[in-house]
Amino acid sequence: MNDPMSTPWGELKLSRFPEDPRDRLRAWDASDAYLLEHLSEQAVDLSGSLVVLGDRWGALVTALAAHRPVQITDSYLGQEATRANLARNGVEPGTVGLLTTQDTPPERIDVLLVRVPKSLALLEDQLLRLAPAVHEGTVVVGTGMVKEIHTSTLTLFERILGPTRTSLARRKARLIFCAPDPARERPANPWPYAYTLPDGIGAVSGRRVVNHAGVFCADRLDIGTRFFLRHLPDTRGARRVVDLGCGNGVVGTALALDNPRAEVLFTDESFQAIASAQATYQANDVPGHAEFRVGDGLSGVAAGSVDLVLNNPPFHSHLATTDTTAWRMFTGARRVLRPGGELWGGGNRHLGYHVKLRRLFGNCHLVAGDPKFVVLRAVKR
Ligand SMILES: C[S@@+](CC[C@H](N)C(=O)[O-])C[C@H]1O[C@@H](n2cnc3c(N)ncnc32)[C@H](O)[C@@H]1O
Repeated sequence: MNDPMSTPWGELKLSRFPEDPRDRLRAWDASDAYLLEHLSEQAVDLSGSLVVLGDRWGALVTALAAHRPVQITDSYLGQEATRANLARNGVEPGTVGLLTTQDTPPERIDVLLVRVPKSLALLEDQLLRLAPAVHEGTVVVGTGMVKEIHTSTLTLFERILGPTRTSLARRKARLIFCAPDPARERPANPWPYAYTLPDGIGAVSGRRVVNHAGVFCADRLDIGTRFFLRHLPDTRGARRVVDLGCGNGVVGTALALDNPRAEVLFTDESFQAIASAQATYQANDVPGHAEFRVGDGLSGVAAGSVDLVLNNPPFHSHLATTDTTAWRMFTGARRVLRPGGELWGGGNRHLGYHVKLRRLFGNCHLVAGDPKFVVLRAVKR
Protein backbone atom coordinates (compact mmCIF):
# COMPACT_ATOMS: atom_id res chain seq x y z
CA MET A 1 0.00 0.00 0.00
CA ASN A 2 1.30 3.50 -0.74
CA ASP A 3 0.09 7.11 -0.97
CA PRO A 4 -3.67 7.39 -1.07
CA MET A 5 -5.16 8.64 -4.31
CA SER A 6 -7.03 11.85 -3.97
CA THR A 7 -10.10 12.00 -6.25
CA PRO A 8 -12.99 14.49 -6.58
CA TRP A 9 -15.04 11.98 -4.56
CA GLY A 10 -12.58 11.41 -1.74
CA GLU A 11 -9.39 9.54 -0.97
CA LEU A 12 -8.81 5.95 -2.05
CA LYS A 13 -6.48 3.35 -0.61
CA LEU A 14 -5.09 1.42 -3.56
CA SER A 15 -2.56 -1.37 -4.10
CA ARG A 16 -1.21 -3.39 -6.96
CA PHE A 17 -1.54 -7.17 -6.98
CA PRO A 18 0.14 -9.23 -5.67
CA GLU A 19 0.76 -6.90 -2.77
CA ASP A 20 4.41 -6.51 -1.97
CA PRO A 21 5.46 -4.27 0.94
CA ARG A 22 8.78 -3.53 -0.85
CA ASP A 23 6.98 -2.41 -3.99
CA ARG A 24 6.87 1.38 -4.03
CA LEU A 25 5.06 1.49 -7.38
CA ARG A 26 1.70 3.23 -7.13
CA ALA A 27 -1.53 1.55 -8.21
CA TRP A 28 -2.65 4.69 -10.09
CA ASP A 29 -1.08 7.46 -12.13
CA ALA A 30 -1.68 11.01 -13.35
CA SER A 31 -3.76 9.76 -16.29
CA ASP A 32 -6.28 8.11 -13.92
CA ALA A 33 -6.40 11.30 -11.85
CA TYR A 34 -6.84 13.53 -14.92
CA LEU A 35 -9.75 11.46 -16.22
CA LEU A 36 -11.55 11.55 -12.86
CA GLU A 37 -10.98 15.31 -12.54
CA HIS A 38 -12.41 15.82 -16.02
CA LEU A 39 -15.56 13.80 -15.24
CA SER A 40 -16.13 15.87 -12.11
CA GLU A 41 -15.23 19.30 -13.63
CA GLN A 42 -17.48 18.71 -16.65
CA ALA A 43 -20.20 17.07 -14.53
CA VAL A 44 -20.40 14.22 -17.02
CA ASP A 45 -23.68 12.32 -16.63
CA LEU A 46 -22.69 8.92 -15.25
CA SER A 47 -26.21 7.66 -14.62
CA GLY A 48 -26.34 5.35 -17.66
CA SER A 49 -24.37 2.25 -18.57
CA LEU A 50 -20.73 3.00 -17.68
CA VAL A 51 -17.88 0.87 -19.05
CA VAL A 52 -14.21 1.23 -18.12
CA LEU A 53 -11.76 -0.46 -20.47
CA GLY A 54 -8.16 -1.19 -19.44
CA ASP A 55 -8.30 0.17 -15.86
CA ARG A 56 -4.81 -0.95 -14.68
CA TRP A 57 -5.26 -1.73 -10.98
CA GLY A 58 -8.89 -0.74 -10.49
CA ALA A 59 -8.40 2.91 -9.49
CA LEU A 60 -11.04 4.13 -11.97
CA VAL A 61 -13.82 1.70 -11.09
CA THR A 62 -13.11 2.05 -7.38
CA ALA A 63 -13.49 5.85 -7.63
CA LEU A 64 -16.64 5.47 -9.76
CA ALA A 65 -18.15 2.53 -7.86
CA ALA A 66 -21.29 4.53 -6.92
CA HIS A 67 -22.18 4.52 -10.64
CA ARG A 68 -22.01 0.71 -10.86
CA PRO A 69 -19.41 0.59 -13.67
CA VAL A 70 -18.37 -2.48 -15.64
CA GLN A 71 -14.62 -3.01 -15.90
CA ILE A 72 -13.11 -4.86 -18.88
CA THR A 73 -9.53 -6.07 -18.51
CA ASP A 74 -7.09 -8.51 -20.09
CA SER A 75 -5.09 -8.85 -16.89
CA TYR A 76 -5.74 -11.36 -14.11
CA LEU A 77 -3.43 -9.33 -11.84
CA GLY A 78 -5.40 -6.19 -12.68
CA GLN A 79 -8.69 -7.92 -11.94
CA GLU A 80 -7.46 -9.29 -8.61
CA ALA A 81 -6.09 -5.85 -7.68
CA THR A 82 -9.50 -4.38 -8.51
CA ARG A 83 -11.31 -6.89 -6.29
CA ALA A 84 -8.96 -6.12 -3.39
CA ASN A 85 -9.11 -2.34 -3.94
CA LEU A 86 -12.90 -2.36 -4.04
CA ALA A 87 -12.99 -4.32 -0.79
CA ARG A 88 -10.46 -2.10 1.00
CA ASN A 89 -12.51 0.96 0.06
CA GLY A 90 -15.73 -0.56 1.37
CA VAL A 91 -17.42 -1.29 -1.96
CA GLU A 92 -19.89 -4.19 -1.74
CA PRO A 93 -19.04 -7.18 -3.97
CA GLY A 94 -21.23 -7.14 -7.10
CA THR A 95 -21.39 -3.33 -7.31
CA VAL A 96 -18.78 -3.28 -10.06
CA GLY A 97 -19.08 -5.71 -12.99
CA LEU A 98 -15.78 -7.48 -13.67
CA LEU A 99 -15.46 -8.66 -17.27
CA THR A 100 -12.46 -9.89 -19.20
CA THR A 101 -11.51 -8.97 -22.76
CA GLN A 102 -12.82 -12.41 -23.76
CA ASP A 103 -16.30 -11.93 -22.28
CA THR A 104 -19.31 -10.71 -24.25
CA PRO A 105 -19.39 -6.92 -23.76
CA PRO A 106 -22.46 -5.02 -22.49
CA GLU A 107 -25.17 -4.41 -25.13
CA ARG A 108 -25.37 -0.66 -24.60
CA ILE A 109 -22.72 1.78 -23.42
CA ASP A 110 -23.59 5.38 -22.46
CA VAL A 111 -20.16 6.32 -21.10
CA LEU A 112 -16.99 4.59 -22.28
CA LEU A 113 -13.77 5.36 -20.41
CA VAL A 114 -10.57 3.94 -21.88
CA ARG A 115 -7.23 3.71 -20.09
CA VAL A 116 -5.09 3.34 -23.21
CA PRO A 117 -3.36 -0.06 -23.11
CA LYS A 118 0.26 -0.67 -24.00
CA SER A 119 -0.81 -2.79 -26.96
CA LEU A 120 -2.36 -0.92 -29.87
CA ALA A 121 -3.64 -4.25 -31.19
CA LEU A 122 -5.55 -4.87 -27.97
CA LEU A 123 -7.08 -1.39 -28.20
CA GLU A 124 -8.09 -2.04 -31.81
CA ASP A 125 -9.69 -5.38 -30.96
CA GLN A 126 -11.53 -4.03 -27.92
CA LEU A 127 -12.84 -0.88 -29.63
CA LEU A 128 -14.13 -3.04 -32.47
CA ARG A 129 -15.82 -5.38 -29.99
CA LEU A 130 -17.40 -2.49 -28.06
CA ALA A 131 -18.36 -0.35 -31.09
CA PRO A 132 -21.79 -1.98 -31.66
CA ALA A 133 -22.79 -0.97 -28.10
CA VAL A 134 -21.71 2.66 -28.59
CA HIS A 135 -24.38 5.12 -29.85
CA GLU A 136 -24.38 8.73 -31.00
CA GLY A 137 -24.87 10.01 -27.46
CA THR A 138 -22.15 7.87 -25.87
CA VAL A 139 -19.50 9.91 -24.07
CA VAL A 140 -16.12 8.42 -24.97
CA VAL A 141 -13.07 9.61 -23.04
CA GLY A 142 -9.65 7.99 -23.20
CA THR A 143 -6.68 8.66 -20.96
CA GLY A 144 -3.00 7.84 -20.86
CA MET A 145 0.41 9.29 -20.16
CA VAL A 146 1.67 11.54 -22.96
CA LYS A 147 4.33 8.98 -23.92
CA GLU A 148 1.64 6.29 -24.34
CA ILE A 149 -0.61 8.25 -26.71
CA HIS A 150 0.57 8.35 -30.31
CA THR A 151 -0.95 9.52 -33.57
CA SER A 152 -1.73 5.84 -34.26
CA THR A 153 -3.76 5.71 -31.02
CA LEU A 154 -5.91 8.65 -32.09
CA THR A 155 -6.27 7.27 -35.61
CA LEU A 156 -7.64 4.06 -34.15
CA PHE A 157 -10.37 5.86 -32.18
CA GLU A 158 -11.16 7.95 -35.25
CA ARG A 159 -11.31 4.97 -37.62
CA ILE A 160 -13.43 2.77 -35.36
CA LEU A 161 -15.67 5.19 -33.43
CA GLY A 162 -15.61 8.73 -34.85
CA PRO A 163 -13.95 12.16 -34.82
CA THR A 164 -11.25 12.33 -32.14
CA ARG A 165 -9.18 15.07 -30.50
CA THR A 166 -6.89 15.32 -27.48
CA SER A 167 -6.71 17.60 -24.47
CA LEU A 168 -3.79 19.67 -23.29
CA ALA A 169 -1.37 17.71 -21.13
CA ARG A 170 -1.75 17.85 -17.35
CA ARG A 171 1.02 16.34 -15.19
CA LYS A 172 2.31 14.51 -18.31
CA ALA A 173 -1.09 12.90 -18.92
CA ARG A 174 -3.50 13.56 -21.75
CA LEU A 175 -7.18 12.86 -22.45
CA ILE A 176 -8.72 11.68 -25.70
CA PHE A 177 -12.20 12.88 -26.69
CA CYS A 178 -14.08 10.95 -29.30
CA ALA A 179 -17.52 11.76 -30.73
CA PRO A 180 -19.04 8.48 -31.90
CA ASP A 181 -20.48 8.38 -35.39
CA PRO A 182 -22.58 5.22 -35.67
CA ALA A 183 -22.98 5.72 -39.42
CA ARG A 184 -19.25 5.18 -39.86
CA GLU A 185 -18.32 1.98 -41.70
CA ARG A 186 -16.18 -0.01 -39.31
CA PRO A 187 -13.26 -2.14 -40.45
CA ALA A 188 -13.50 -5.90 -39.91
CA ASN A 189 -11.77 -7.14 -36.76
CA PRO A 190 -8.43 -8.70 -37.81
CA TRP A 191 -8.16 -10.54 -34.46
CA PRO A 192 -7.53 -13.33 -33.62
CA TYR A 193 -4.71 -13.65 -36.09
CA ALA A 194 -3.30 -17.05 -37.11
CA TYR A 195 -0.09 -17.68 -39.03
CA THR A 196 2.05 -20.63 -40.09
CA LEU A 197 5.28 -21.17 -38.17
CA PRO A 198 8.58 -21.42 -40.06
CA ASP A 199 10.60 -24.61 -40.53
CA GLY A 200 13.55 -25.60 -38.35
CA ILE A 201 11.87 -25.19 -34.96
CA GLY A 202 11.20 -28.81 -34.06
CA ALA A 203 7.72 -30.23 -33.53
CA VAL A 204 5.84 -27.02 -34.34
CA SER A 205 7.59 -26.41 -37.67
CA GLY A 206 4.95 -25.51 -40.28
CA ARG A 207 2.18 -25.59 -37.65
CA ARG A 208 -0.48 -22.93 -37.06
CA VAL A 209 -0.33 -20.56 -34.13
CA VAL A 210 -3.34 -18.49 -33.06
CA ASN A 211 -2.97 -15.07 -31.46
CA HIS A 212 -5.62 -12.97 -29.80
CA ALA A 213 -4.89 -9.24 -29.78
CA GLY A 214 -2.27 -8.08 -27.31
CA VAL A 215 -0.43 -11.38 -26.75
CA PHE A 216 3.35 -11.40 -26.79
CA CYS A 217 4.64 -11.18 -30.37
CA ALA A 218 1.20 -11.75 -31.89
CA ASP A 219 2.10 -11.20 -35.54
CA ARG A 220 5.32 -13.20 -35.90
CA LEU A 221 7.45 -15.69 -34.00
CA ASP A 222 9.65 -13.91 -31.46
CA ILE A 223 13.35 -14.60 -32.12
CA GLY A 224 13.95 -15.55 -28.48
CA THR A 225 11.03 -18.00 -28.56
CA ARG A 226 12.39 -19.40 -31.83
CA PHE A 227 15.73 -20.06 -30.13
CA PHE A 228 13.98 -21.69 -27.15
CA LEU A 229 11.91 -23.92 -29.49
CA ARG A 230 15.08 -25.18 -31.18
CA HIS A 231 16.46 -26.36 -27.82
CA LEU A 232 13.49 -27.79 -25.93
CA PRO A 233 14.23 -30.80 -23.72
CA ASP A 234 13.77 -34.35 -24.89
CA THR A 235 11.36 -35.33 -22.15
CA ARG A 236 9.98 -38.74 -22.93
CA GLY A 237 9.66 -39.37 -19.18
CA ALA A 238 8.20 -36.02 -18.11
CA ARG A 239 4.53 -36.39 -17.29
CA ARG A 240 3.48 -33.16 -15.69
CA VAL A 241 4.73 -30.10 -17.56
CA VAL A 242 3.92 -26.41 -17.09
CA ASP A 243 4.22 -23.80 -19.84
CA LEU A 244 4.59 -20.85 -17.48
CA GLY A 245 3.73 -17.48 -19.05
CA CYS A 246 2.53 -19.40 -22.10
CA GLY A 247 1.51 -16.46 -24.33
CA ASN A 248 0.11 -18.00 -27.53
CA GLY A 249 1.04 -21.48 -26.28
CA VAL A 250 3.63 -22.28 -28.93
CA VAL A 251 6.21 -23.65 -26.46
CA GLY A 252 3.84 -25.98 -24.56
CA THR A 253 2.26 -27.13 -27.82
CA ALA A 254 5.71 -28.04 -29.21
CA LEU A 255 6.48 -30.03 -26.07
CA ALA A 256 3.11 -31.80 -26.17
CA LEU A 257 3.45 -32.74 -29.86
CA ASP A 258 6.78 -34.41 -29.08
CA ASN A 259 5.57 -36.07 -25.87
CA PRO A 260 2.07 -37.52 -26.22
CA ARG A 261 2.18 -38.79 -22.63
CA ALA A 262 2.82 -35.37 -21.14
CA GLU A 263 0.05 -33.47 -19.37
CA VAL A 264 0.67 -29.81 -20.05
CA LEU A 265 -0.66 -26.97 -17.94
CA PHE A 266 -0.66 -23.69 -19.90
CA THR A 267 -0.77 -20.73 -17.58
CA ASP A 268 -0.59 -16.96 -18.03
CA GLU A 269 -1.92 -13.83 -16.35
CA SER A 270 -3.47 -12.59 -19.63
CA PHE A 271 -6.96 -13.77 -20.59
CA GLN A 272 -6.06 -13.13 -24.24
CA ALA A 273 -2.98 -15.37 -23.87
CA ILE A 274 -4.92 -18.28 -22.40
CA ALA A 275 -7.54 -18.04 -25.17
CA SER A 276 -4.69 -18.01 -27.71
CA ALA A 277 -2.90 -20.99 -26.16
CA GLN A 278 -6.12 -22.99 -26.14
CA ALA A 279 -6.78 -22.09 -29.80
CA THR A 280 -3.20 -22.93 -30.83
CA TYR A 281 -3.39 -26.29 -29.06
CA GLN A 282 -6.75 -27.11 -30.64
CA ALA A 283 -5.61 -26.04 -34.11
CA ASN A 284 -2.85 -28.66 -34.02
CA ASP A 285 -4.74 -31.82 -33.00
CA VAL A 286 -2.26 -32.43 -30.22
CA PRO A 287 -2.45 -35.88 -28.62
CA GLY A 288 -2.43 -36.04 -24.82
CA HIS A 289 -3.97 -33.94 -22.11
CA ALA A 290 -3.80 -30.22 -21.47
CA GLU A 291 -5.20 -27.69 -19.03
CA PHE A 292 -5.46 -23.92 -19.51
CA ARG A 293 -5.46 -21.64 -16.51
CA VAL A 294 -5.40 -17.87 -16.03
CA GLY A 295 -3.46 -17.05 -12.89
CA ASP A 296 -0.50 -15.41 -11.26
CA GLY A 297 2.63 -17.43 -11.99
CA LEU A 298 2.38 -20.86 -10.38
CA SER A 299 0.06 -19.91 -7.54
CA GLY A 300 -2.48 -22.67 -7.04
CA VAL A 301 -0.11 -25.38 -8.34
CA ALA A 302 0.73 -27.93 -5.63
CA ALA A 303 4.29 -28.08 -4.27
CA GLY A 304 6.40 -30.96 -5.63
CA SER A 305 3.80 -31.89 -8.27
CA VAL A 306 5.57 -30.98 -11.53
CA ASP A 307 8.32 -32.68 -13.58
CA LEU A 308 9.18 -29.85 -15.93
CA VAL A 309 8.59 -26.10 -16.09
CA LEU A 310 9.15 -24.25 -19.39
CA ASN A 311 9.47 -20.50 -19.06
CA ASN A 312 10.41 -17.51 -21.18
CA PRO A 313 9.75 -14.84 -18.52
CA PRO A 314 8.44 -11.35 -19.18
CA PHE A 315 10.81 -8.48 -18.57
CA HIS A 316 8.37 -5.64 -19.09
CA SER A 317 5.48 -4.67 -16.89
CA HIS A 318 3.32 -1.78 -18.10
CA LEU A 319 6.24 -0.09 -19.91
CA ALA A 320 8.79 -0.52 -17.08
CA THR A 321 11.64 -3.03 -17.41
CA THR A 322 11.61 -5.28 -14.39
CA ASP A 323 12.85 -8.68 -13.32
CA THR A 324 10.43 -9.00 -10.39
CA THR A 325 8.11 -11.30 -12.32
CA ALA A 326 10.96 -13.50 -13.56
CA TRP A 327 12.21 -13.88 -10.01
CA ARG A 328 8.71 -14.81 -8.78
CA MET A 329 8.31 -17.30 -11.62
CA PHE A 330 11.65 -18.98 -10.82
CA THR A 331 10.80 -19.13 -7.11
CA GLY A 332 7.42 -20.63 -7.95
CA ALA A 333 9.08 -23.18 -10.25
CA ARG A 334 11.39 -24.30 -7.48
CA ARG A 335 8.38 -24.81 -5.19
CA VAL A 336 6.24 -26.82 -7.64
CA LEU A 337 9.00 -29.06 -9.04
CA ARG A 338 9.49 -32.50 -7.55
CA PRO A 339 13.06 -33.39 -6.53
CA GLY A 340 14.92 -34.06 -9.79
CA GLY A 341 12.39 -31.95 -11.74
CA GLU A 342 13.75 -29.28 -14.06
CA LEU A 343 13.14 -25.68 -15.02
CA TRP A 344 14.08 -24.81 -18.60
CA GLY A 345 14.19 -21.11 -19.24
CA GLY A 346 14.79 -19.10 -22.37
CA GLY A 347 15.73 -15.44 -22.39
CA ASN A 348 17.99 -12.63 -23.49
CA ARG A 349 21.57 -13.31 -22.50
CA HIS A 350 21.99 -9.79 -21.05
CA LEU A 351 19.25 -10.36 -18.47
CA GLY A 352 21.63 -12.61 -16.50
CA TYR A 353 19.01 -15.15 -15.41
CA HIS A 354 21.76 -17.71 -14.71
CA VAL A 355 22.76 -15.72 -11.61
CA LYS A 356 19.23 -15.88 -10.21
CA LEU A 357 18.79 -19.56 -11.04
CA ARG A 358 22.10 -20.51 -9.47
CA ARG A 359 21.14 -18.61 -6.33
CA LEU A 360 17.75 -20.31 -6.12
CA PHE A 361 18.49 -23.85 -7.29
CA GLY A 362 22.18 -24.10 -6.41
CA ASN A 363 22.87 -25.05 -10.04
CA CYS A 364 22.30 -23.76 -13.55
CA HIS A 365 23.45 -25.30 -16.82
CA LEU A 366 23.78 -23.60 -20.18
CA VAL A 367 21.87 -25.75 -22.68
CA ALA A 368 22.48 -23.47 -25.66
CA GLY A 369 23.52 -19.92 -26.33
CA ASP A 370 24.14 -17.48 -29.12
CA PRO A 371 25.33 -13.88 -28.83
CA LYS A 372 21.79 -12.75 -27.94
CA PHE A 373 19.89 -15.62 -26.31
CA VAL A 374 20.43 -18.45 -23.87
CA VAL A 375 18.49 -21.53 -22.83
CA LEU A 376 19.17 -22.47 -19.22
CA ARG A 377 18.36 -25.55 -17.18
CA ALA A 378 18.13 -25.71 -13.38
CA VAL A 379 17.49 -28.94 -11.47
CA LYS A 380 15.53 -29.09 -8.21
CA ARG A 381 17.69 -31.03 -5.71
C1 LIG B 1 8.02 -13.16 -22.90
S1 LIG B 1 6.33 -13.68 -22.92
C2 LIG B 1 6.52 -15.38 -23.38
C3 LIG B 1 5.34 -15.96 -24.10
C4 LIG B 1 5.54 -17.35 -24.69
N1 LIG B 1 5.92 -18.31 -23.68
C5 LIG B 1 6.59 -17.31 -25.79
O1 LIG B 1 7.74 -17.72 -25.52
O2 LIG B 1 6.29 -16.86 -26.90
C6 LIG B 1 5.95 -13.74 -21.19
C7 LIG B 1 4.52 -14.11 -20.84
O3 LIG B 1 4.39 -14.06 -19.39
C8 LIG B 1 3.08 -13.61 -19.08
N2 LIG B 1 3.05 -13.11 -17.68
C9 LIG B 1 3.45 -11.89 -17.21
N3 LIG B 1 3.27 -11.84 -15.87
C10 LIG B 1 2.76 -13.03 -15.49
C11 LIG B 1 2.36 -13.57 -14.24
N4 LIG B 1 2.47 -12.87 -13.11
N5 LIG B 1 1.86 -14.83 -14.22
C12 LIG B 1 1.75 -15.55 -15.37
N6 LIG B 1 2.11 -15.08 -16.57
C13 LIG B 1 2.61 -13.85 -16.65
C14 LIG B 1 2.82 -12.55 -20.13
O4 LIG B 1 1.42 -12.30 -20.26
C15 LIG B 1 3.44 -13.18 -21.38
O5 LIG B 1 2.50 -13.94 -22.10
